[in-house]
Amino acid sequence: MNVAILGCGYVGLELGRQLAAGGHRVVGVRRSAEGIRAVEDAGFDAVQADVTESDDLAAVPDVDAVVYAASAGGRDVESARTAYVDGLGTAVETFANRADPPDRFVYTSSTGVYGDRDGAWVDERTPLEPTTEREEVLVEAERIALQETGAMDGTVARFAGLYGPDRYRIERYLDGPVAEGYLNLVHRDDAAGAVRFLLTEDYARDDVVLVVDDEPVKRPALARWLADECGVERPEVRPAGQSERARTSKRCSNEKLRELGYEFEYPTFREGYRPAISEFC
Ligand SMILES: NC(=O)c1ccc[n+]([C@@H]2O[C@H](COP(=O)([O-])OP(=O)(O)OC[C@H]3O[C@@H](n4cnc5c(N)ncnc54)[C@H](OP(=O)(O)O)[C@@H]3O)[C@@H](O)[C@H]2O)c1
Repeated sequence: MNVAILGCGYVGLELGRQLAAGGHRVVGVRRSAEGIRAVEDAGFDAVQADVTESDDLAAVPDVDAVVYAASAGGRDVESARTAYVDGLGTAVETFANRADPPDRFVYTSSTGVYGDRDGAWVDERTPLEPTTEREEVLVEAERIALQETGAMDGTVARFAGLYGPDRYRIERYLDGPVAEGYLNLVHRDDAAGAVRFLLTEDYARDDVVLVVDDEPVKRPALARWLADECGVERPEVRPAGQSERARTSKRCSNEKLRELGYEFEYPTFREGYRPAISEFC
């Protein structure tokens, strides 16, 4: 398979490494020169382009599958709209209109589409009822990835909170204070692994799959576990977060991904944080 990864950053580089190791041909697309060096260092082809600009995308060769994993720079609504609605829309349209369009288009969305569910379980069948402008933007992006892809089959891989090498943020939990509410996590290698799996096993065409590990965990429980593992004092807990992200609480199910047959490298935070504990504590 020939795969173009648009916004080949934290997850994209790992996805590219996994696909290349499986004998697939990968091109990683980044805007910055530094990003291009990272793609080259990872050992696959690099194209420097702004993936939200159709003219720039002309430099990306024809491929069998496109993965749109560009991130929004900031957490504000306008950054999200630029990356996930305008940018994604341009990329979808540009590839759909090619003489030889890709067969598949995967968009890496976010469990942020659910907003706050007061700690309830959610899955792919849970209706999306955006209550904030940012949630509306995230839901609209998924609609584009599923309904405006023309001859390409769209897939939404709905990622939970990413963590892993360079993104353990262990001090944040140990220093506290930590807010109540559930965290839904997925290790970088499994976020990439799940997308690789959906592509190579040919699953989830025109479909949505939640990409989250086995165990939603309350922030204070994760922080206490980390503190105990590190042998330091447990952090202070405060009732609820002020930010939109900290206020939202839900438990995301990975039953569908599991049923498809994906095997997690890091099924829970306990396995995923082990290298960080060995390194930092
Ligand atoms: N982080 C999370 O917890 C989380 C949770 C759920 C979903 N997601 C989504 O998962 C996806 C992958 O996340 P990630 O953490 O791997 O993101 P990331 O590390 O920020 O990587 C994305 C890369 O895209 C590049 N990029 C951004 N805008 C671009 C543009 N217009 N043209 C070309 N390249 C561009 C950036 O590199 P340069 O600007 O250096 O080129 C960036 O390094 C994103 O869509 C993100 O929103 C993330």
